[in-house]
Amino acid sequence: MQEIIRQLEEKRERARLGGGEKRIKGQHAKGKLSARERIELLLDPDSFEEWDMFVEHRCTDFGMEEQTIPGDGVVTGYGTINGRLVFVFSQDFTVFGGSLSESHAEKICKVMDKAVQVGAPVIGLNDSGGARIQEGVASLAGYAEVFQRNVMASGVVPQISLIMGPCAGGAVYSPAMTDFIFMVKDSSYMFVTGPDVVKTVTHETVTAEELGGAITHSTKSGVSDLAFENDVEALLQLRRFMDFLPASNREKPPVRPSADSPERIERSLDTLIPDNPNKPYDMKELIAKVVDEGDFFEIQPNYAGNIIVGFARMEGRTVGVVANQPMVLAGCLDIASSIKAARFVRFCDSFNIPILTFVDVPGFLPGTSQEYGGIIKHGAKLLYAYAECTVPKITVITRKAYGGAYDVMSSKHLRGDVNFAWPTAEIAVMGPKGAVEIIFRSDIGDPDKIAARTEEYRQKFANPFIAGHRGFIDDVIMPRTTRKRICRSLAMLKDKDVKNPWRKHGNIPL
Ligand code: HXC
Repeated sequence: MQEIIRQLEEKRERARLGGGEKRIKGQHAKGKLSARERIELLLDPDSFEEWDMFVEHRCTDFGMEEQTIPGDGVVTGYGTINGRLVFVFSQDFTVFGGSLSESHAEKICKVMDKAVQVGAPVIGLNDSGGARIQEGVASLAGYAEVFQRNVMASGVVPQISLIMGPCAGGAVYSPAMTDFIFMVKDSSYMFVTGPDVVKTVTHETVTAEELGGAITHSTKSGVSDLAFENDVEALLQLRRFMDFLPASNREKPPVRPSADSPERIERSLDTLIPDNPNKPYDMKELIAKVVDEGDFFEIQPNYAGNIIVGFARMEGRTVGVVANQPMVLAGCLDIASSIKAARFVRFCDSFNIPILTFVDVPGFLPGTSQEYGGIIKHGAKLLYAYAECTVPKITVITRKAYGGAYDVMSSKHLRGDVNFAWPTAEIAVMGPKGAVEIIFRSDIGDPDKIAARTEEYRQKFANPFIAGHRGFIDDVIMPRTTRKRICRSLAMLKDKDVKNPWRKHGNIPL
């Protein structure tokens, strides 16, 4: 018995060492943690239950039969984050560059399958040179098995990818199908083809960082939701992030006790909107003043800044916040912001998270680049997402709600449950100037007449009452009472139950 135990310990020790001390040192030298150190930081102390530590690859080509390392380059299992169950896989770059073999893929699939069965999130810590080159098609098959599971798990359990090293070739497509992608600056990158192939095909010279680093993907492409300074920050923020999410689509979002009173009055909101309707203000100030303890976890803060999305809590319960940002492009909707918000709304709807929408939108962004880029189709994504969404939806129009964008931004007509307006709201087909220049075109040569018409239009339409007369908004509220009114509405909607008609799936304009 003693001997068997000794052998077991020896095997475990070998597995824990992965590719060996030298390669672990190499990992540290690059500012990266090892696969196991990452899991330790991510999960609650002593909560990790490891699976498949003894799994080895089955490849016998290129001398691989002599190079087996228990665990085969990925550490898998489950544990808890602040007491809540999560499944995790962490690729070990010290073992064949974290490359994905058939066995490696099977380990990932095993945790994904169990996560879906028990209803718990899957977190992938990605650090891999892609398909295990020595295994050829067996490795590609492994990837496809993971892809298929990503799709089946989508909308069932939250899936989060943290990219902590290379992620190239088709390998990027598993993270791409997960709900959120976070990256680490300077040590992670994602691209379909690397700088060398780019140089050969398009003659562009570009570094890996410029092509697919964390900054590129969190500011230019929108592929990444957040970019963190280093592994430690990324893992600690991921812990904070997970606290907002329900474990599966069978659960309501978690509730965390909050000391912030739901009745809190915030007088400073009464003066948030500038007198000049063309002057911007920071919508993030409004969000911070309304949500519990000002705690807002923003997603994609540096991409499509004209719309703000992220998670917060009201009375301790998670809500998704979507808000136009007048500080960027005057808060107009464009292609990038429509896609960003549509995806966020669909995530919230999949996982029973109520949506708060703060509206100050002058319309869709005009111009050839938007039209040629397909704003019609991409703008429709947000419209579609809000319209199909059945979670509680609360809307507050702070200022402009013009044209189609009024309809899109969780209006009453798209089954908004409670739609409030501040007294400063202007709900109309378009702004006064544009409207007058169209309907009183013959007066254009006469500035006095135009000014009078503009004032007349402003008086008549640039207010919340026309919409109020028709019941399109439920109440005009004082800004200072916004938190209180939202909390009451959410409490009223707690057990909302609306179902869409049966169908295989809708056909969102992709
Ligand atoms: C097997 C690999 C490997 C791979 C790296 N290694 N990638 N082994 N298959 N794909 C091994 C190396 O041989 C080396 O082993 C160790 O990992 C570390 O690699 P280095 O090159 O020394 O590290 P570094 O300089 O940091 O470069 C990392 C890298 C580079 C950028 C990832 O290794 C690289 O370009 N690898 C190939 C990437 C690739 O083309 N993958 C296939 C993509 S196609 P030793 O023993 O020396 O430590 C793909 C298809 C997926 O993934 C399809 C899905 C549909």
